[in-house]
Formats: sequence, C-alpha cells, structure tokens
Amino acid sequence: MTTLSILGGTGHEGLGLGLRWAKAGHSVIICSRAIERAQVAAKEINEKLGNVNVRGMDNINAAKEAEIVVLTVPYSAHQATIESVRGYVQGKVFVDVTVPLVPPKVSRVQMPAAGSASQEAQNLLGEDVKVVCAFQNIGAEHLANPDHAIDCDVLVCGDDKEAKTAVIKLAADAGMKGWDAGPLANAVIAEGLTSVLIGLNIKHKVKAAGIKITGIN
Ligand SMILES: NC(=O)c1ccc[n+]([C@@H]2O[C@H](COP(=O)([O-])OP(=O)(O)OC[C@H]3O[C@@H](n4cnc5c(N)ncnc54)[C@H](OP(=O)(O)O)[C@@H]3O)[C@@H](O)[C@H]2O)c1
Repeated sequence: MTTLSILGGTGHEGLGLGLRWAKAGHSVIICSRAIERAQVAAKEINEKLGNVNVRGMDNINAAKEAEIVVLTVPYSAHQATIESVRGYVQGKVFVDVTVPLVPPKVSRVQMPAAGSASQEAQNLLGEDVKVVCAFQNIGAEHLANPDHAIDCDVLVCGDDKEAKTAVIKLAADAGMKGWDAGPLANAVIAEGLTSVLIGLNIKHKVKAAGIKITGIN
C-alpha cells in the first residue's frame, strides 16, 4: 500500500485515478487548492467504494504526506502548482499526467520549449525528484467506473528505472497495462499523442480513443 497524493484530484482525471487506486487498496489523498473541495471529492469516492478511507487535503499538506505525488491539473496551472509543492516532494516519485494543451487548438500538438510538460516539471523540481510521465492517453471517461475494462495502454517515461517500475505497477493496480517507454525525453510522444487522440474523438464522435502496444507477447 502506497500513500498517493493527487494534486488537482478534484478534476475528472485525478478523481478517476484516485477511485481506482483506492479500490486497489492504496492510501489515496485527493488534493485541491481548497480543502473543502478535496473533502467533497474524497467523500464521493468513499461513497462509491464503501469501506475505503480516501482523504481530502490541500495540495501542500498532501504533498508533504505522500510517498508518490501525482499531478493532474490543466497545463495553465502546471508551473504554479509545481512551484507550490517543490519543497515537499524532494526525493519522491512525481507522476506528471499533465498534457500541454494550448486552447483552442487542442487537437494540434504544441509542445513547450523544454520538450514536454514532464520535462518542465523535472527542470522545476530538480534532479532529486523522480519525475515520471504517465496516463496522458487515458481518457477520464474510462476511469470513472472502476469495473469498466480499459482498452488503452499507458506509456511510462522517466529517467529513473525504479520509479518507472512503481508507476507501471500503479497502472496495473488501476486496471491498465503500462509500458516502459524510455527516458523522460520521450514524454514528447506520450503527451503529444493526446492531441492526436482528441482529434480522433472529435472526428469519430467518441469520448476516449486510446492506444495499444502490439507485437509483444
Ligand atoms: N480529462 C481527461 O480525459 C484527461 C485525459 C488525459 C490527461 N488529462 C490531463 O490531466 C490533467 C487534468 O485533467 P482534468 O480534465 O482532470 O482537468 P480539470 O478538471 O480542468 O482540472 C483538474 C483540477 O486542477 C485544478 N485547477 C484548475 N485550474 C487551476 C489553476 N489555475 N491553478 C491550480 N489548480 C487548478 C482544479 O482543482 P482545485 O480547483 O480543486 O484546486 C481542478 O479540479 C490535464 O493536464 C489534462 O490535460 C486529462
């Protein structure tokens, strides 16, 4: 059991991941800028699952308490949220789920100068934080029902092998196959792919197109 704090966990993506990790037995903390919103979201998960003890906390106190920190905020809030917790996540695994979308053209890949949002997170947090890029291609729609089988794989990029192994295990705990997709420099592909999937969603009038790795037994 790992203590997982989900920054921005009141949104659809973080809430869905939290629901699935709580179901798998992890100690989940849903985090928000406002503790009241976090507590409402935590209660929602507890009611859905029954006997689990998901907590709601503010981003900063939750980051202090976490073993693994997960970031699920819009890209516009990425830098400020990271800077607000920088001092409390040193030495920890930091899973960045953020997609650097630039509205209104969200189906066009527009990566930041650093290469990816995850690389920006690494640059902001410093080398003692093990930043891992994951879950960008999993639509929140898939996560909301914990019994729904997710037909989409998770590309996991990062420069620390043990951290990636831990996140691949978290993907499995949430009902998905995770793949070691190489160094953090490769996050450009995982994050950029989301815009391609958004374009497919629009074109085919679906809510959560995904990807699968094939050819590996
Ligand atoms: N939704 C999806 O299907 C999906 C799929 C893959 C990846 N993603 C990525 O995952 C991230 C979260 O997606 P989402 O749909 O869950 O986003 P969201 O609902 O728009 O936002 C998530 C949370 O971020 C916090 N937030 C919003 N604006 C903020 C600001 N200016 N400063 C600080 N915190 C702010 C809010 O929490 P509080 O107000 O409670 O603090 C909000 O509940 C995004 O980067 C998205 O691209 C989403």
